[in-house]
Amino acid sequence: SNRIMLGPLVAAIDQGTSSTRFLVFNAKTAELLSHHQVEIKQSFPKEGWVEEDPKEILQSVYECMDRTCEKLTQLNIDISNIKAIGVTNQRETTLVWDKETGEPLYNSYLLLYSPESNIQIIPDLFGCLVWLDLRTQSTVERLINKTPGRNKNHLKTGLPISTYFSAVKLRWLMDNVEKVHEAVLSHRAMFGTVDSWLIWCLTGGKKGGVHCTDVTNASRTMLFNIHTMDWDPELCKYFDIPMEILPKVRSSSEIYGLMVSCLGDQSAALVGQMCFKDGQAKNTYGTGCFLLKNVGTKPVMSDHGLLTTVAYKLGRDKPACYALEGSVAIAGAVVRWLKDNLGIIQTSTELEELAADVGTSYGCYFVPAFSGLYAPYWEPSARGIICGLTQFTNRSHLAFAALEAVCFQTREILDAMNQDSGIHLSQLQVDGGMTSNRLLMQLQADILCIPVVKPSMPETTALGAAMAAGAAEGVSVWSLTPEDLTEVTSEKFEPQINPEESELRYARWKKAVQRAMNWET
Ligand code: G3P
Repeated sequence: SNRIMLGPLVAAIDQGTSSTRFLVFNAKTAELLSHHQVEIKQSFPKEGWVEEDPKEILQSVYECMDRTCEKLTQLNIDISNIKAIGVTNQRETTLVWDKETGEPLYNSYLLLYSPESNIQIIPDLFGCLVWLDLRTQSTVERLINKTPGRNKNHLKTGLPISTYFSAVKLRWLMDNVEKVHEAVLSHRAMFGTVDSWLIWCLTGGKKGGVHCTDVTNASRTMLFNIHTMDWDPELCKYFDIPMEILPKVRSSSEIYGLMVSCLGDQSAALVGQMCFKDGQAKNTYGTGCFLLKNVGTKPVMSDHGLLTTVAYKLGRDKPACYALEGSVAIAGAVVRWLKDNLGIIQTSTELEELAADVGTSYGCYFVPAFSGLYAPYWEPSARGIICGLTQFTNRSHLAFAALEAVCFQTREILDAMNQDSGIHLSQLQVDGGMTSNRLLMQLQADILCIPVVKPSMPETTALGAAMAAGAAEGVSVWSLTPEDLTEVTSEKFEPQINPEESELRYARWKKAVQRAMNWET
């Protein structure tokens, strides 16, 4: 049968903030053959705290793998044709585990929120500190006062000091969790972001798992020097982190035991969108929203609040490529908030329908600064606000304002990017879960005043991880040379409102942002 003719397959584990996926692609055609997705619980034990359970994350990976393989078998596809598995992940999310027991080291009483039962107390779960977590805000403010402006740290890391990145989360674990403190002293502690945790577990765990990360994930810790491409002793000293607990840093495309490649999810999306050339950019709408522009093999520092980060290094002997990144903390998360916290929608499709019913926010602006504001502001003390309400405002307007917020935030980072480079992007390549929302895509084109282009295969992040895995030396079933890349079919959304109207709405948004700033002072 033609099934046997499929040739080599490559799989990707895509471990995002909101869900885990396992996907299998045909290495010759880039066709997605099968996949499975499982949602991840998030807990908010205190105001501003965001945790996930590393064991649940690992279980979800196994479940997705099993279910996808079952589906492939039902399709008569031989799973032994899977030649490599790549990992891509939510970045910055931090945990410490014990290398002898294999157990994550952090137990707390988790308060799990569920719409049916309100607050549920579940004792003794183990947690990762999710990138969105704000518990390190006071530490960050203290450090910023100590080293203000664009300091030496910033020049080495490409990052402002922020609650967003791993070093402060790791510091918090070391300072506040007795078990972590003890494990560090007795040389049993391993630090990792989610990629390291999964790779270690999947390559044998306590029986000899590989403790590594890749350059893209390492570049989000504030401990990694993006010029030398290694952990930086001075930065480790600054945050007082013992270097022996750090994973080994590898390229994004090479064999690390049973796993083959690893890329932070935003880097993977850049690869999956085939933005290999200087100046090419993509915007991914996931839990947050991340616009990355490839700037080539030399890091470029931003003057407008963007991050400099490692885009990828596709092989041990290949050069590293860098990106400018505009990170927005809350995009898809605002939909989940409207669903879980306010209960005004049951599903995300309902949000689109509600918003489409009115086609306007009727002057309502929603700044979802739940975790402070990231790019271009980097203001941890900002908090969310909804303003411009009248008695006329209803949940449809609120739904519309939530979608508009995602578009305005993207406009802010696109403006910063254009100002930094002096060159204006003529269209925006997009991907991620929220791009299935056609109203959002149209609104985005209207607010940016440029066309928005979305690929017909939305799983770009996983595709990028599969490409890197399939192209790794020793696997070599996928070619990354542009001539061999499969033509991507896409859909284009053209701006439909006049630029004056767009500017007016954007100016109001900016006013709303000012009100969300410095909420606590
Ligand atoms: O930096 C956080 C980012 O990697 C999370 O991505 O797709 O879960 O919103 P996502």
